[in-house]
Order: sequence, then structure tokens, then C-alpha cells
Amino acid sequence: MRKDLEEELREQAHPNRLKEYPLQESEDLCQMNQNNNQIIRFEEITKVYHLGRIDIPVLNGVSCEIKKAEHVAIMGPSGSGKTTMLNIIGCLDKASSGRYFFENRDISSFDDDALSEVRSRKIGFIFQSYNLIPQLTVLENIEMPLFYQQVDEIKTREKAIELARMVGLEDRIRHRPAELSGGQQQRVAIARALMNDPVLILADEPTGNLDSVSGKEIMKLLCDLNERGTTLIVVTHDVNVAKYSRRILKMLDGRISNED
Ligand SMILES: Nc1ncnc2c1ncn2[C@@H]1O[C@H](COP(=O)(O)OP(=O)(O)OP(=O)(O)O)[C@@H](O)[C@H]1O
Ligand SMILES: [Mg+2]
Repeated sequence: MRKDLEEELREQAHPNRLKEYPLQESEDLCQMNQNNNQIIRFEEITKVYHLGRIDIPVLNGVSCEIKKAEHVAIMGPSGSGKTTMLNIIGCLDKASSGRYFFENRDISSFDDDALSEVRSRKIGFIFQSYNLIPQLTVLENIEMPLFYQQVDEIKTREKAIELARMVGLEDRIRHRPAELSGGQQQRVAIARALMNDPVLILADEPTGNLDSVSGKEIMKLLCDLNERGTTLIVVTHDVNVAKYSRRILKMLDGRISNED
């Protein structure tokens, strides 16, 4: 089928869907074939925060590659740059220098709109403190990622119910976050992260506020998703959480110091 016609039909079928983010030059396409199973590549990424006239270097040249469907843990002391790295991977923040390839596209120079498009189409986030909206019900919280995308309301609701069922909360969908345990709140956050069918899940200390039983349940859910093909990156201080992954990146002073 003609490419422009194909695009037109897709546009008609999903008039409100966000457009694909920009395609790269043909030489990049050659490299895409070589790195087909790669989802993330950092080349000498740095991050410097500026507080007034003071520069605070936080990432000092991080290079790494993560393959599709990998499960990677990132460990390291407080302040070593784990969250900063995760935020750049998740397009919540931009590197100060270096190149970032996501699915083999160099997205280092993307502006905020293009980055938020990548984020909303491809990436799900899970945070230590769940980050649920207290005034909304479980179901409404799960629906949030599609709220601004004007996707059909009924389809959105059906999908949110299906995800609530998947995380074992179908009997809690009308509750508000404050009426749930920590483990249940984190399960809502996982369902919310899955609403846009992400290829990549980023979890920053996902079990940090949970007792060990709830923590294991959350890790089991995340590992199940990873086994079904979603790339998973988990930042953690807890060796027992890191043990679920086959690969551990250790950070120190804004660098990857070691890999197990
Ligand atoms: N917005 C900011 N402005 C200035 N400095 C920042 C900012 N965000 C983070 N930093 C600094 O960057 C360094 C790394 O922070 P980051 O949050 O990445 O560490 P972390 O490894 O995730 O630590 P933790 O384990 O405590 O969560 C810290 O020294 C922090 O103070
Ligand atoms: Mg952190």
C-alpha cells in the first residue's frame, strides 16, 4: 500500500492519536538494522544542574546499552545519579551532553514536545511513592495516561477495568487511594503504567515503601510483564529486589562503576 495512503487511513481510524515521532536520516536506518534488539543506548551522557552560578555535575559520562526485553537493576549509593539517569531514559529530563538513542533513534536533540510524545507512547513509570491522585478513584487513576489523548471513553474504561483485574484490584475500582494499602496503591500505579502499552517500564524504588510480602508481590507482577517482553529497569537499594534481574548496573559518583 502507498505510504501516504496508509498514513491517511491510519489517521482516519485513529484521528486523535499522536503522530509517530520523527523518522531519522537513512544512514541511521542502516545502524537500526545492526542494533535491532537494542532499546536504549547512552553515549557519554552527562548531566549538570545549575544552582545560581554553581554547577552541580551529576552524571559524568554514562555509556551503556540495554536490549529489548531485558530486566536491568540500577544500584548505587544515595546521590550517585540513579534517579537522574532514569529520568533521562524516561524523557522526563534531558542530558547536558552526550547522545541518547531510544529504539535506535537519536533523541538527544528532541524538544520537550517530541520527548513527551515518546514518553506517552512508549514508557510507563512507577515511583516509590506511587504518585496517585488522591481525589480520583482507582479506575480514574488507571485511566489517567489516556486522559489527554482523547481516546474513546468506553474503550479506555474497558481497558482500565481489564488492567485493574490483572493487578488483582477489580473489587477496589471505586475506592480512593487513601483507602488502599501501600501494596495495593503500587498495583494501581502498575496498572496505570500499562495503560499506554509501554515497551519500557521504569521503576524507581518500586518496593521502597512496602513490607517484604507486598514488595515480593510487586516484583512478581513486574517480572511477569518483563517475561512477556516489556523491557524493565528497576532502581533499587535492596539487593533482594536487584536479584530478580539478570543484570545489575552499579552507579558511583555519576558513573557506571561496575556491572554484575
Ligand atoms: N533538580 C536538581 N537540582 C540540583 N541538583 C539536583 C537536582 N536533582 C538531583 N540533584 C542532585 O543530583 C545528585 C543525584 O541525584 P539523584 O536523585 O539522581 O540520586 P539517586 O542516586 O537517585 O539518590 P537516592 O538513592 O537518594 O534516590 C544529588 O546530589 C542531588 O542533590
Ligand atoms: Mg533516587
